[in-house]
Amino acid sequence: MIIAIDGPAGAGKSTVARRVASELGIEYLDTGAMYRAVTFGVLSREIDPSDAESVIGVCRQLVLEISVDRVVVDGVDATSAIRGPEVTSAVSAVAATPEVRQFLVELQRAWILERGAGVVEGRDITTVVLPDADLKLFVTASPRVRAERRVAESGGDVDAVEAAIAERDRRDETRAASPLSISSEAVVIDTSEMSIDDVVADILERVQG
Ligand code: DC
Repeated sequence: MIIAIDGPAGAGKSTVARRVASELGIEYLDTGAMYRAVTFGVLSREIDPSDAESVIGVCRQLVLEISVDRVVVDGVDATSAIRGPEVTSAVSAVAATPEVRQFLVELQRAWILERGAGVVEGRDITTVVLPDADLKLFVTASPRVRAERRVAESGGDVDAVEAAIAERDRRDETRAASPLSISSEAVVIDTSEMSIDDVVADILERVQG
């Protein structure tokens, strides 16, 4: 069983994907962590994330180890740093570089080929990486709800967080290379008024019929 999940930042995708994978006894791949890991490597080398040529060079040199609970970049544990504000504000520029996308998409396809099953989550999984997945889902929520969830988790001002989320959506949706879009074959799940448990139950029902 291969499950592909796309959706915008803060829609609850990662939590849901992790839970569904664990319920089904299969592995989970967070592709956003891969873009974040490359961004961490770019920033550690003091390279400008919008300098595509240098970013591509870094991408080829990096040694990435990405597992369910740890991200190691060139031997350095970057698990917390990839979620920090520096990486978060630079990741969109790195993810907009076509060669970086090609490089990571190959790794993602190899990951699933090796296992034959898994839950893979990101922005272009249903459209580009695994268009033949058994189940394709687009998990979303209103920008307001996504901002409220983020503030409940890590604090901040809800209006400012909502504005930042809307800005990141805009960048992810309007970039030339594999913009975030809804596959015509994907089932859309709006989690604005659903709990995590409801969403997981909904997906398991679709899998198990
Ligand atoms: O899901 P996330 O917030 O960790 O993703 C980090 C960034 O990477 C986000 O700006 C979108 C980008 N991304 C992408 O372009 N394609 C993916 N498959 C996953 C993430």
